[in-house]
Amino acid sequence: MIADIQEILVDEKALEKRVSELGEKITEDYRGKYPILIGILKGSSVFMADLIRKIPIPLEIDFLKASSYGAEARSSGVIELEADLSMDVKGRSILLVEDIVDTGNTLKYLLNRFESLGAEEVKVCSLLDKPERREQRVIADYIGFEIPNEFVVGYGLDYAQKYRNLPFIGILKREVYE
Ligand code: PRP
Ligand code: MN
Ligand code: MG
Repeated sequence: MIADIQEILVDEKALEKRVSELGEKITEDYRGKYPILIGILKGSSVFMADLIRKIPIPLEIDFLKASSYGAEARSSGVIELEADLSMDVKGRSILLVEDIVDTGNTLKYLLNRFESLGAEEVKVCSLLDKPERREQRVIADYIGFEIPNEFVVGYGLDYAQKYRNLPFIGILKREVYE
C-alpha cells in the first residue's frame, strides 16, 4: 500500500496540528450556536472523528453519503446521494465537514440542498482545497491545507476505495491510476 505513494504531502504531525487549529477556530465561532456538524461520507470520516474532539462545545453530528467519483480518478460531475441525513436541519446552524474540495461539484450540490432544506446557516470546513481544478464557484469557510493539482489519498481519501486508512496525506503514484 505504502509502495503506491510517491510522496507524503502532509504528515501525521502536521495533520494533528492543523486539525487542532481548525478546532480552536470553530470552537470560538460556534460558541452558543449549538451547530450540527455534518460529515460527508466516506472521505470525511477520519477528519470528522479527529476534528470533533477538538471542539469542546455542545454540538450534534450527522452524516450523509455523497459520491461523484465512483472508481475513477476524476469527478464525474454527477453527484449521487447514497445515504441521507437522519436529522432535521431546518433553522439550524450547519457546518459541513469535507475531506477535499476539488471541482466543487459535490459542495455546490450540497449547499443547494441544505438551502432548500431550510438551514439557518451553512458553512463548510474542508481539510484540503485544490483550487486549480475548480469548476464551480464555491469556497470552504475553513480550510486545512491548500494543495497542488495532484491525486492525493490517505486520512480518509481514497482511490477506488483504497488507501483511506493511511495516517497521512500522500500523492499517489501515477502508474497506479493511469
Ligand atoms: C470525494 C471527496 C469529496 C469530493 C470532492 O468524494 O471526498 O466529497 O469527492 O470532489 P469534487 O469537489 O470534485 O466534487 P467521492 O465522490 O470520491 O466519495 P467518497 O467520499 O466516498 O470517497
Ligand atoms: Mn467525499
Ligand atoms: Mg472518493
